[in-house]
Amino acid sequence: MKIGIANDHAGVEMKNELSAWLQEQGYEVINYGTDSTESTDYPIWGEKVANAVAAGEADLGIAICGTGIGIGLACNKVSGIRAAMCSDAYSARYSRIHNNANILCLGARVIGIETAKNLVQEFLTHEFEGGRHARRVQEIMDIEARNRK
Ligand code: RB5
Repeated sequence: MKIGIANDHAGVEMKNELSAWLQEQGYEVINYGTDSTESTDYPIWGEKVANAVAAGEADLGIAICGTGIGIGLACNKVSGIRAAMCSDAYSARYSRIHNNANILCLGARVIGIETAKNLVQEFLTHEFEGGRHARRVQEIMDIEARNRK
C-alpha cells in the first residue's frame, strides 16, 4: 500500500519517525512534506498530499502540522478528499469504518509519537464498512459537487 505523507515545519520529526516505522512494516511511503524545520505554510503541503491521494498516486494520506487542523482544512479543499483530524484511536479507526476518510491528520504539538503510531495503525488497518455509511459519505460528496464553481 502506498502512503502519502505531508507536513509543515512543526511535523518534520513526526513525519520522519512515522515514515521509517511504516517502511519497516512494508508500506511504501511517499514524502510530500517539507524536510526543513524553517517556518512554512501548511496549505502548501496539505494540497500536495491531497492531490496525490485524489489522483490515486497514494492510496491513503497522512498530514501533519502543529495541531493537525490547518493542514486538514487545506486537504479538505481538494475534490475527493475526506481528511480527518484525530487525536484518539477510536476516531482514527472510525474515520475509516464510517467516514471512508482518505487522509489522517495529526497534530505534532498535541500528541506524542506513540499515540501517533497507534492512530496511524488504526487508520491503515480498517476498511470502510459501506452500507448506511456509504449513503452518508455520498451525501458529503454531493455537497462538494453542488458547491463546485
Ligand atoms: C504553525 O506554527 C502552526 O500554525 C501549524 O503547524 C498548524 O498548527 C496550523 O494549524
